[in-house]
Amino acid sequence: MAELRTEPTVGTTQETDAKDGVRRRDFIDIAALSAGGVGALAVLYPLISQMAPSEDVLAESTTDVDVSAIEPGQAIKDVFRKQPLFIRRLTDAEIAEANSTPIGALRDPETLDDRTLEGHRDLLVTMGVCTHLGCVPLGVAEGENRGDYNGYFCPCHGSHYDVAGRIRKGPAPTNLLVPEYNFTSDTVIRVG
Ligand code: FES
Repeated sequence: MAELRTEPTVGTTQETDAKDGVRRRDFIDIAALSAGGVGALAVLYPLISQMAPSEDVLAESTTDVDVSAIEPGQAIKDVFRKQPLFIRRLTDAEIAEANSTPIGALRDPETLDDRTLEGHRDLLVTMGVCTHLGCVPLGVAEGENRGDYNGYFCPCHGSHYDVAGRIRKGPAPTNLLVPEYNFTSDTVIRVG
């Protein structure tokens, strides 16, 4: 007697369920991820918008200075981002002195051109913060000690900066920092 065999049908219910199951799971995962993404954005947006600087902070981040009254040989002190800012108008002799200094003699080699703007080589704008440990150097006010190199002198540990604000002697490792700035008119600079 012939044996009765049951052949499997093509595309069984089990296979279809498996495929459907994968599809359903994919859909659920994608939906969950999308919902998660939207949720994360909803949380992040207020955080990011809070982190954006307010107009007050933006205004504080730049400093405008009228430099028209600074005579050659004079310097003034201002404030930039709550730190002292030195602005000096160099004399022709000081410019010549800065330019005649051999670059090899400098601990932090920079020319005067590197530290000033084209067309305004006589205007030296630096932070008034010693690069050793952050004291405020002398040399801005009339009669103050300008050190051995006729620039700025930091009395805290004896750092001497030259007429271009470059470190020449003492423990400070680098030149006085020149901040970002530009001229917004013939007479006004914007620092920051
Ligand atoms: S902080 Fe200026 S020399 Fe030390």
